[in-house]
Amino acid sequence: MANMKISSQHRLLLSFYLFSLFVYPEAVKVTYNSNNFSAGCIEIEIKALLEFKQGLEDPSGRLSSWVGENCCQWDGVGCSRQKGNVIQIDLRNSYNLTYPEYVMFGSEAEAYERSSLSGKISPSLLNLKYLSYLDLSKNNFQGIQIPSFFGSLRELKYLNLSHASFAGMIPPHLGNLSNLQYLDLFPYSYTNVDSKSLWVSDLNWLSRLSSLRYLNLGNANLSLASNNWLQAINMLPSLLELHLPGCDIRNLPKSLPNVNFTSLRVLDLNNNYFTSSLPPWFFNVSTLVDLNLANSEINGTILNDAWRNFCNMQALDLSFNGFSGEFLGSLSKCSNISLKVLRLRYNSFSGHIPESLGNFRSLRCLQLSGNSFLGPIPASIEKLPFLEELDLSSNKLSGAIPESIGQLSALSYLDLSMNSWEGTVSEIHFLKLKHLKCFSLSSVNQSLAFSGRNEWVPPFSLQVIFIKDCRVGPTFPAWLGTQKELVSITLIGVGISGTIPGWFWKQSPKIRWLELQNNQLSGMLPKSLNFSLGAIRVDLSSNLLKGTLPLCSNVQSVSFSNNKFSGLIPQTIGQEMSMSQILELSGNSLSGNIPSSLNKMKKLTTLDLSSNQLSGKIYTQWKGLDELNTIDLSQNNLSGGIPSSMCSLPQLQVMKLSSNYLSGELSLSLQHCTNLSTLDLGDNKFTGKIPDWIGDRLLSMSILNLRDNMFNGSIPEALCGLPALHILDLAHNNLSGPILPVWAI
Ligand SMILES: *[C@@H]1O[C@H](CO)[C@@H](O)[C@H](O)[C@H]1NC(C)=O
Ligand SMILES: *[C@@H]1O[C@H](CO)[C@@H](O)[C@H](O)[C@H]1NC(C)=O
Ligand SMILES: *[C@@H]1O[C@H](CO)[C@@H](O)[C@H](O)[C@H]1NC(C)=O
Ligand SMILES: *[C@@H]1O[C@H](CO)[C@@H](O)[C@H](O)[C@H]1NC(C)=O
Ligand SMILES: *[C@@H]1O[C@H](CO)[C@@H](O)[C@H](O)[C@H]1NC(C)=O
Ligand SMILES: *[C@@H]1O[C@H](CO)[C@@H](O)[C@H](O)[C@H]1NC(C)=O
Ligand SMILES: *[C@@H]1O[C@H](CO)[C@@H](O)[C@H](O)[C@H]1NC(C)=O
Ligand SMILES: *[C@@H]1O[C@H](CO)[C@@H](O)[C@H](O)[C@H]1NC(C)=O
Ligand SMILES: *[C@@H]1O[C@H](CO)[C@@H](O)[C@H](O)[C@H]1NC(C)=O
Ligand SMILES: *[C@@H]1O[C@H](CO)[C@@H](O)[C@H](O)[C@H]1NC(C)=O
Ligand SMILES: *[C@@H]1O[C@H](CO)[C@@H](O)[C@H](O)[C@H]1NC(C)=O
Ligand SMILES: *[C@@H]1O[C@H](CO)[C@@H](O)[C@H](O)[C@H]1NC(C)=O
Repeated sequence: MANMKISSQHRLLLSFYLFSLFVYPEAVKVTYNSNNFSAGCIEIEIKALLEFKQGLEDPSGRLSSWVGENCCQWDGVGCSRQKGNVIQIDLRNSYNLTYPEYVMFGSEAEAYERSSLSGKISPSLLNLKYLSYLDLSKNNFQGIQIPSFFGSLRELKYLNLSHASFAGMIPPHLGNLSNLQYLDLFPYSYTNVDSKSLWVSDLNWLSRLSSLRYLNLGNANLSLASNNWLQAINMLPSLLELHLPGCDIRNLPKSLPNVNFTSLRVLDLNNNYFTSSLPPWFFNVSTLVDLNLANSEINGTILNDAWRNFCNMQALDLSFNGFSGEFLGSLSKCSNISLKVLRLRYNSFSGHIPESLGNFRSLRCLQLSGNSFLGPIPASIEKLPFLEELDLSSNKLSGAIPESIGQLSALSYLDLSMNSWEGTVSEIHFLKLKHLKCFSLSSVNQSLAFSGRNEWVPPFSLQVIFIKDCRVGPTFPAWLGTQKELVSITLIGVGISGTIPGWFWKQSPKIRWLELQNNQLSGMLPKSLNFSLGAIRVDLSSNLLKGTLPLCSNVQSVSFSNNKFSGLIPQTIGQEMSMSQILELSGNSLSGNIPSSLNKMKKLTTLDLSSNQLSGKIYTQWKGLDELNTIDLSQNNLSGGIPSSMCSLPQLQVMKLSSNYLSGELSLSLQHCTNLSTLDLGDNKFTGKIPDWIGDRLLSMSILNLRDNMFNGSIPEALCGLPALHILDLAHNNLSGPILPVWAI
């Protein structure tokens, strides 16, 4: 089940750019009207509020209006119209987040902290006898417990302590709040992912909250209540919304004598560990409008017919489970299908997508990726005028992609990758797709072509394009020049040849992801490539590019491997590309020395210069490259010894220097390469004895290749004691003496 939760890098990137496109159903609206009262306040209540204020820390002065007599005018305080009693305290932090559910760091975290209230919550609140509304959400109470005296605020109808970093046991005293209608304790913390969570030892107290309409205990640890959580909740007949995501619940009862959820509209149980199938009672909760069971280890076949009760459903998310069965066709029999969001990603659904898909007229988001759906896309798809997101990737769909997709004028996200398409995708497929931002296409059996005339001006302006294993060539697609918002371009193995046009490099500063590998691109590149906004990956490997190696600053991962670049590696590469973590230049015709400026690339983790014609000594001062774990310099013309500074690299695990002209005795410095798991020195001119200490010091060694050298003497016994050794190759040396097998030690 775990592997279903893994998303590929590409998919992560797609969603990175599409956070704005997620479609949420309309949740049940919570409104609560406070009354204003402008006459003077009751003295004991003023005192209670001032004591409450005193306990709080308020770095940005949000409570500065809390002075004087007229407490009903204070920010966040509301009074009843009749008698002027304080009935409402609304101190929700209005700090706006860049993304929902996002952990802040640095200056953003500081700004949030400044805007937050924290400190102690004074029991003086108990003197507010009529308090019915209390909202402290989005503040930062730094892991204190929810005060148990809250259970004595008898008039409370609304209690919101969400996103406020309360932790510890939820006090069962809250069960005394018999008037409570809204309880929101979702304990997500914005500043500390590992913050201690809320938990309960049982949920019996909950069953006394008989007026409850809304309950959110998301992310609280309910594992100790796994056995009776549902019974407790079944005692709440007025419940409209139940949110228990990420609650570590491990049991979904098979039977329930009587289903009391006669009003339940929203049910969110995502991210739990039910390890069972959906119980039959579940399909009787026909009032559901929004159901989220994603990522909860639920399996079993769902009969098509089972969904016929859910005609009110607007949003359904069953993603990342083990469901099997066919498409939820029985929903299409509802007289009025209101389904807007259908997410079935990464399950085992199979069969054809039926023509009745066209009946889902309200659909905005359809995600079927990662299943085993077969056959063609039904032509009826053109009847979904509101569809914004269509993800059919990673299925067994086949046949031609219907041209009617081009009629889906609301579409902004279209992912058709990893299927077995055939035929041609042409301009007609995009006829009305003027809102398309993200397009992804690949065909596992490589029998699809993508044709766009050079003079094509597409109706859309893409941010992300991903095409792999389809024919796009023969030349670089000129219409990409019309796409000014592109941030991610992937065109892998699409048969494009010729040069990369000059206009492309004018657009490149905005690009954050560029993959053009496995094509036949030729010609020379500009001396430096400009990704001035900072790119994650630039991969032009396995093409026919030639001339001087270009420099590109501000790119984390760079590959120019397997091309025809020649001449010297620019001496300033270290300064110019100091942000690079991965540098792959293997399989070219680069010559001259290894530039000493490499040691300016402080973030480097992988350096691959293999299969070139580099010569001279490896004399770079390696010290300071504290992240470097892989060095491959094999198949060059390097000579001299191994510089001792290489072994000062604290993370170095893989050192490949084979097929060069390196010589000398294995210097004592290798002793300090204690993390090495691969050492390949084969096909060089090393001499002398194989040092004893290799067996004593290099304890992580798994691959050791010393073949084709001029080592002499005997094989050190200690070599055979290396605990992780898988491959040992000492062939073609001048070694003598006994061969000690491992079992002889
Ligand atoms: C309450 O009073 C404030 C300021 O006096 C005003 O902005 C707000 O609209 C009033 N709210 C209601 C519900 O009357
Ligand atoms: C946060 O956004 C809301 C709605 O856009 C706005 O009314 C409010 O003033 C913003 N708050 C802050 C602190 O910027
Ligand atoms: C509680 O507060 C959070 C954050 O301010 C808000 O998003 C949520 O809708 C509130 N819950 C209810 C039930 O109003
Ligand atoms: C409130 O609930 C707690 C725990 O459930 C209980 O011990 C206590 O007696 C109750 N208090 C009142 C005043 O009912
Ligand atoms: C929840 O609590 C149980 C029992 O105390 C514990 O075993 C489990 O690890 C906790 N779960 C999480 C996600 O912390
Ligand atoms: C249904 O709710 C009512 C009222 O809260 C309660 O008396 C009854 O026991 C509940 N039924 C079940 C099966 O839990
Ligand atoms: C579900 O509904 C069916 C038909 O209305 C009924 O026969 C059955 O008893 C119900 N099951 C439960 C557990 O409520
Ligand atoms: C569902 O999962 C449970 C627990 O992991 C397993 O025992 C059962 O065989 C599975 N059922 C199906 C139909 O896969
Ligand atoms: C169909 O459902 C929508 C949304 O749920 C609703 O607005 C509309 O009135 C319904 N139409 C009919 C004919 O029931
Ligand atoms: C591609 O897959 C389709 C459907 O499975 C099949 O009909 C077609 O023959 C395949 N083409 C190639 C070149 O393998
Ligand atoms: C890179 O592009 C940016 C934005 O177009 C431009 O301001 C900058 O001068 C360019 N840098 C180089 C070295 O060409
Ligand atoms: C590299 O070594 C080979 C074999 O000795 C030689 O033919 C070639 O000229 C050398 N190349 C360079 C650039 O030194």
